[in-house]
Amino acid sequence: MKKTIKDFDLNNKRVIIRCDLNVPMENGKILDDNRIKESLKTINYAIDNNAKVILLSHLGRIKEEQDKKANDLKPVAKRLSELLNRNVVFVNETRGTVLENTIKSMKPKDVVLVQNTRYEDLPLKKESSNDEELGKYWASLGDIFINDAFGTAHRAHASNVGIASNLPSGLGFLMEKELKMLGEKLNDPQRPYVVIAGGAKMKDKIEVIDKLVEKADYVLLGGGIANTFLVAKEIDVKNSVYDEESVPHAKELLKKYSKKIILPVDGLGSIEYKDNLKVYSFDVNNITDGVMMLDIGEKTIDLYTKYLYQAKTVFWNGPVGVNYFKNFEHGTKKLCEILKASNAHVIIGGGDSAAAAISLGYKDSFDHISTGGGAALEFIEGKKLPGVEAVSDK
Ligand code: 3PG
Repeated sequence: MKKTIKDFDLNNKRVIIRCDLNVPMENGKILDDNRIKESLKTINYAIDNNAKVILLSHLGRIKEEQDKKANDLKPVAKRLSELLNRNVVFVNETRGTVLENTIKSMKPKDVVLVQNTRYEDLPLKKESSNDEELGKYWASLGDIFINDAFGTAHRAHASNVGIASNLPSGLGFLMEKELKMLGEKLNDPQRPYVVIAGGAKMKDKIEVIDKLVEKADYVLLGGGIANTFLVAKEIDVKNSVYDEESVPHAKELLKKYSKKIILPVDGLGSIEYKDNLKVYSFDVNNITDGVMMLDIGEKTIDLYTKYLYQAKTVFWNGPVGVNYFKNFEHGTKKLCEILKASNAHVIIGGGDSAAAAISLGYKDSFDHISTGGGAALEFIEGKKLPGVEAVSDK
């Protein structure tokens, strides 16, 4: 058993909390603040228990100097301060005297957010390679370390594993909730157990299907990964995107699990990858020339509804259409509605499907919407998460 934040006396202690505040941003504007909201419980608990609260998070990926501007955590500090209803001091550096002096002058209940931990990835990838010196340096700024960054738990980075190796540590409430919801319900799922897999990352997705198909009773496909399987069945998908390299793998899976893998029978599409053009509707065996499939169609929705109504457990990773195009949000929205009305235990995992469910208005309709993408998938595949493993045992 891992220690949790409740195992520590936080009074007057410098408590470093690693959050995953990696929210989608456009020109400094936060598009979805769900991950910030989900982090509040642990932060508020630390404040209520008189800790000096030092927050760390990454934002995006920093590969070159110009990535820094787009991934500046300052707007997150502002939003956090609104949500906490108290001042959050933002320190615009990841190491140095300003950071050290700010922490020295903290009083209990003060909250500091440190600049994006991945700024340390330039030039030497110190954060992402779990550089020993960096982990030790950040640990030297605190007395206790709480890891609440579930979305990043599949990474062994300096800001999670590095600090945990150098300080007494525990899990935060979000981390505990995620491990419980994903672990308890999906390790030994109530059956029928149905997985819905869609989304854009086709290469990643076929690996996911490979891992989950054995345990699941049915896997319903949508999005680009469905097209790849249609090609594997020798269906002409016309201009639809699919992953050529994954076709042989899809063929193997279809051969082995022909009864479990369920494919779209019809779809909606367009001549270009755009909203507001003419929408074509077709059976998958007869896709209109020059058209790309961008959503599942009504017959597919009916077919998938039959599986979903019988299901006792559903895990959904990846939207089944291009849900951010009004013309092609229908399939994803319909499945949300069906799942909302069903008695199944429904877990949404993966950044895009979570964002889709939330933006389409279904935030409170499911048993759990995970804040983790890769982390959720690796965890339910049965892999150990380094960010969790590094935390102190009870
Ligand atoms: C995520 O969004 O899945 C996490 O924040 C991890 O981000 P990463 O894939 O860039 O490590």
